[in-house]
Amino acid sequence: MPERLIIPSPEPLPLPADPILLQGLLLLTFVLHILFMSQVLGGSLLYLGATVAGGRKSGHPLQRLAHTLAGLFPWTVAFTITTGVAPLLFVQLLYGSFFYSSSVLMAWPWFAVVPMLIVGYYALYWVSLKGKDRPAWARLTVGGLAAVVFLAIGFLYSTNLSLMQRPEVWAGVYAANPYGTSLVTEAALAPRFLHAVLGAVALASVLVLVHGAASAGSDAAYGRAVTRFGLASFVPAALLQAVVAPWYASHLVPAVRDHLFDLGSLLGQLTVAALVVSALAFVLLVAARGRLRYTGAGAALVVAGQALLLIVRHMARNQALAGYMPEGLWRVVPQTALVVLFLALLVVGLATVGYMALRVRRDRVALAEVAAERRVAG
Ligand code: HEM
Repeated sequence: MPERLIIPSPEPLPLPADPILLQGLLLLTFVLHILFMSQVLGGSLLYLGATVAGGRKSGHPLQRLAHTLAGLFPWTVAFTITTGVAPLLFVQLLYGSFFYSSSVLMAWPWFAVVPMLIVGYYALYWVSLKGKDRPAWARLTVGGLAAVVFLAIGFLYSTNLSLMQRPEVWAGVYAANPYGTSLVTEAALAPRFLHAVLGAVALASVLVLVHGAASAGSDAAYGRAVTRFGLASFVPAALLQAVVAPWYASHLVPAVRDHLFDLGSLLGQLTVAALVVSALAFVLLVAARGRLRYTGAGAALVVAGQALLLIVRHMARNQALAGYMPEGLWRVVPQTALVVLFLALLVVGLATVGYMALRVRRDRVALAEVAAERRVAG
């Protein structure tokens, strides 16, 4: 171990439940966070793409797609934030000694996430509520501002979560700059961040593909245009992952890298399962060509592949921190009533969100039908 290793002692408060359960909950909530976050980060980039590709001619199908994407932003930003809070609590609970240290080293950029979030949220609200009646340059400017802000937030998350896994550099970073303004970059950060951005674009494109397939029944031309656009963003984003993922993997700690494809280890089995599922999803989505059943199946596989990859990411972090865990960090004094209450509220909360999403979808479908009838009548 390096000489100058400063890892804060764990908080005196013990964990309220078994760390396995807490890691399961961290993963569950983090998967949800990534699904919504992708619709914000990837979705804002696709919004810009659809606005440009839709051109100036009013009634272009991609202009309609841009407005549809814009309509989702107030929801997806809100869900990104709420589904981010839960994993944030679990990360602090399980990895407090690491996460707080890296957050202190980059305190000011880290604090900046909140004002940036407000600016990005406001910009997307504008796009959603006012954008439709404004010229393309205004939509591109405000939407572009939002995309840059969310890219910057994603970058700060990648920086912090990567720095927390490297206690060996903290003392040196602090000695060089004790003012909390360090933005420590490392070789792994570029592929890690790129991997996150490409994943977000791919996931947002999958929603576009599902939307295209679902719309094809009522408006074939629109469905086709949306599917073409979805494939034009999904295919390059997914193929580029094939370059970026091995680049990122080459920077993982040897204990992880060496077992990534070792079918004798759980890590290897999960990695291979994630790759197989993601490859199947890719083939299905490309071959579906707008057919709803196959597109839906492809989308479900994409989500499954993403969840497996996030488990691998989680195991890699545990492996990287294994030699640094301070004694007592995962000491447990069970508080069963509290945990049962949390689980009950989680189920009720998820059911409420699911119900809300269904209601929103039903209302949107009804509105789209009315609009289609008006178009036919007009
Ligand atoms: C809409 C803006 C946001 C974007 C673009 C975003 C993006 C990201 C990205 C890219 C990661 C993965 C970083 C990596 O591992 O390299 C991440 C992780 C995370 N985000 Fe977000 N995020 C956003 C908002 C939030 C908010 C508001 C919260 C909390 C309130 C949050 C909580 C988390 C947590 C806790 C993790 C790490 C979980 C873990 O490592 O297990 N995020 N986010």
